[in-house]
Amino acid sequence: MQITMVKKRLASGEPCEKCIQTEEMLKRKGLWDRIDEVLWAVEGEDQSPGARVAAQHGVKLAPFFVVRDEEGAETVVTSALRLVRQYLESAPAREAPAAATPVDLAAAETELAEASPQEILRFGLETWGKRCAIAFSGGEDVALVDMASSLDLPFSVFVLDTGRLHDETYQFLDDVRLRYGIEIETQLPDQAEASDLMSRKGPNSFYRDGHWECCSIRKLRPLGRVLSRFDAWVTGQRREGRPIGELPVVQADPSFRGRSDGFARLNPLAGWSRIEVFDYLRRQGVPTNPLHRLGFARIGCAPCTRARTGSPGEPDRWWWEEQPPGPSAPDPGSGI
Ligand code: ADX
Ligand code: SF4
Repeated sequence: MQITMVKKRLASGEPCEKCIQTEEMLKRKGLWDRIDEVLWAVEGEDQSPGARVAAQHGVKLAPFFVVRDEEGAETVVTSALRLVRQYLESAPAREAPAAATPVDLAAAETELAEASPQEILRFGLETWGKRCAIAFSGGEDVALVDMASSLDLPFSVFVLDTGRLHDETYQFLDDVRLRYGIEIETQLPDQAEASDLMSRKGPNSFYRDGHWECCSIRKLRPLGRVLSRFDAWVTGQRREGRPIGELPVVQADPSFRGRSDGFARLNPLAGWSRIEVFDYLRRQGVPTNPLHRLGFARIGCAPCTRARTGSPGEPDRWWWEEQPPGPSAPDPGSGI
């Protein structure tokens, strides 16, 4: 098998941003040396080698790959993720053995109470493998995706796409997907429920009668649906600003008690401060959601989160509601 990568060079002489990201992703996965040849499609130069290959195969995107098998048959692959999965990761992902006996989460909590986020994550991925899913909000919890990728163990990632996320977050999710070569399982709200709410009350009813109803439809019920497919989940929640001890690093999930089979929740960043998370991201050169630079501490739905002004105690989510969410809030304990 021989693989040619076609990259695009802009008229300015720079490679296209997506081509750079794809190359970085392949290098990070140790797969760059599996690319046998790189051809450049130069903007405005129809006869450049890459442009000719693109024209030959009718491809208008960059980068793309041409995979040639032993008989010389060529297959065009326009998705770097598909290339990795289908042609480069020949060995199937190592699956964690099915946990035959329920995992003793209380013992794990004691053992890992002082462990680093990476050690906590390693415990989760070695125990449940792909059945352990990182809940990725598109914020600083990208640290968990970065850590999981460097552990080189199988894992899953999901996002609850409420349909109301910031444009910057959608772009960031795409950047992360490409950079790490991962799938981000995307859970949408139930269409009938969302349509019904919008038809009855309009798109922004939460400003009038609170976030409960909309959050139930766009976040909480989708969370229940996505978690039913996994055995454990990992959140980016931290203890900072909460009463001490309220957030263990490993726990039997308090909001999904319905499952009697020891559904587990890991909070590997519980003990880290926001500064420690951002230090990690800087040290590792991990890209961050541009909203953080605009003052957003929390990445949530666009109509319901705002940049921090610096005034102590000023809420940055659901600020128009007089009381913080009480016991009837849609997601007691889920924290999202
Ligand atoms: S917190 O720092 O104020 O607690 P936030 O409530 O936004 O952050 O999210 C905490 C954690 O919940 C995130 O790190 C993530 O694991 C999960 N989470 C929040 N929103 C989403 C989402 N839309 N999709 C998936 N997970 C999410
Ligand atoms: Fe709806 Fe706002 Fe809740 Fe998002 S945070 S689901 S927009 S109420």
